[in-house]
Amino acid sequence: MGDITLVESPVFDSRINTTREVLQMRHILVMNAKGGCGKSTIATNLAAYCADEGYITALADFDQQQTSLDWLSLRPEDRPPITGIRGFEDGLRHVPRNADYLIIDAPARSHGKEIDELVRRAETIIIPVLPSPIDMAATTRFANELRETKKIQNKKAKIGLVANRVRENTKIYGELSEYLDDMKNMKPVAVLREAQNYNRAFGRGIGIHELPEYMAWQDWNRWEPLLDWIWSKRSQP
Ligand SMILES: Nc1ncnc2c1ncn2[C@@H]1O[C@H](COP(=O)(O)OP(=O)(O)OP(=O)(O)O)[C@@H](O)[C@H]1O
Ligand SMILES: [Mg+2]
Repeated sequence: MGDITLVESPVFDSRINTTREVLQMRHILVMNAKGGCGKSTIATNLAAYCADEGYITALADFDQQQTSLDWLSLRPEDRPPITGIRGFEDGLRHVPRNADYLIIDAPARSHGKEIDELVRRAETIIIPVLPSPIDMAATTRFANELRETKKIQNKKAKIGLVANRVRENTKIYGELSEYLDDMKNMKPVAVLREAQNYNRAFGRGIGIHELPEYMAWQDWNRWEPLLDWIWSKRSQP
């Protein structure tokens, strides 16, 4: 039998039990002009997941509050590394060229040109929305601004909506579901529950997928549709 030559960098995805190769860097922007809806929570958890899967991962923080970079500074050395990028200072200049995944954490209160600038950099956009009338109203205004951008008008990005901090079987969750279903050009892709695990993980510089299974399996299940969407063509133009 001849020698077996290993091909460089196919990544084994234990979740779907197949091999995936990233041919081009993926740029995933987590954004909503509304503050406190979970942008940094989703960005950091997604970055941790990509790194755990063996991908070269960068996390760009465009928020002066530096929440994502604060989280990264807590990341234990024995966890798969993530490159932190100070996006709010010098954009994406320092993103490693060989990165497979770039996750971008956007600041709250982005409007007009600022939205344009961020959206220009991504082909996949995640919008977290909380089950609250204030958040839904703010998200409507943000979504209208987003639809005005060239990138969205030219259908060069896909937008996924994530219901966050949900308590199921509540009236407001029912209203949020209907609201998300009615959003034009945007697809509801996941429902994440309100859970202490997010605070637990954040304080340790890890993602919820790096918490023990007995503690976090319910949240892993809620993430599954979001991850499926991200790995699929549905999240790419
Ligand atoms: N699913 C969740 N369950 C419990 N707490 C959550 C969840 N998602 C976010 N949080 C908490 O809500 C708060 C706001 O979340 P986060 O900082 O991710 O929002 P943000 O949109 O990035 O805020 P900002 O607009 O200020 O940047 C944090 O304290 C975070 O731990
Ligand atoms: Mg934030």
